[in-house]
Amino acid sequence: MSLLEFIKKSPKAELHLHIEGTLEPEQMFVLAKRNNIQIPFKNINEVKKAYNFSNLESFLKIYYESAKVLIKEQDFFDLTWAYALKCKEDNIVHAEIFFDPQTHTDRGIDFDIVINGIYKALKKAEKEFSLSFKIIMCFLRHLDEKEGFKILDQALAHKDKIYGVGLDSSETGNPPSKFEKLFRKAEENNFITVAHAGEEGPPEYIWEALNLLNVKRIDHGIQCLKDEKLVEKLSKNKIPLTVCPLSNVKLRVFNKLEEHNLKKMLDKKLMVMVNSDDPAYFGGYLNQNLIETQLALNLSQDEIKTLLVNSFKSSFLSEERKKEWINKICEISKKL
Ligand code: ADE
Ligand code: ZN
Repeated sequence: MSLLEFIKKSPKAELHLHIEGTLEPEQMFVLAKRNNIQIPFKNINEVKKAYNFSNLESFLKIYYESAKVLIKEQDFFDLTWAYALKCKEDNIVHAEIFFDPQTHTDRGIDFDIVINGIYKALKKAEKEFSLSFKIIMCFLRHLDEKEGFKILDQALAHKDKIYGVGLDSSETGNPPSKFEKLFRKAEENNFITVAHAGEEGPPEYIWEALNLLNVKRIDHGIQCLKDEKLVEKLSKNKIPLTVCPLSNVKLRVFNKLEEHNLKKMLDKKLMVMVNSDDPAYFGGYLNQNLIETQLALNLSQDEIKTLLVNSFKSSFLSEERKKEWINKICEISKKL
């Protein structure tokens, strides 16, 4: 078996995936027509041309605009079901999925419509092909903490479906400290916490996420290498960093994949794994991220195995389930 086959055949967990970021251009056109929504593109070619981003902010503008085609529960179901089928294709057996309720409630869409559509599709995938999942609700950090409290109140009615809370959107100028009280309340209500930090923003934001928001994982975290003390803490405490290589290149954090710091992070024994972030916008789902990164950084079989094993170690699965999947990876890697 080649390294490429190992990547494709191995079971994987995906831990950093925005469900709104799986909206493919084709599906955007279908939903725009179905819901009679105007979109600023005439055809797929125009969309693909627009997906030429200069930074996180330039991406978010298009991302929020595109999400406007999502109106009914069926739309959220179809969006999520399409991603579940990608999981099947890529051998993703466990997915921890972000959704951004404020992107929808601010347009007058009910919270229930959003969460029910997503949840029902994931339950169907669980039943039909044993995909396990957790749903994580993200607060939009460009909005006030007060808005976050409102959405958290609505989430309490869906505690059975939502496992944790996260923090996403425009990082620069919106530090984790802005949401300290909100995250405390989320924890008091038994939500686990994660946060995007150190994607474009400074290492200080990673410190804040750890110390003020008590996060169990850092999303991205790639800026941590600028701070030796931080690297020491992250590796000593095995705090997972959900790295998204194709995203980082598309949003120009690195000029090209060959310059990505994932290998350096592995060398420093950081708890990293690969994820796709917003695959419909960034050029590929999980296997594509792994394959392109392996080629660009010349990752060894051992390094790929570490990334795959880390995806389960860093998940919110039970210790027993983690062990089962990790044993499977070990079995497959022996055949290489
Ligand atoms: N929302 C969707 N994708 C994101 C990213 N990569 N960073 C911050 N917010 C996001
Ligand atoms: Zn993200």
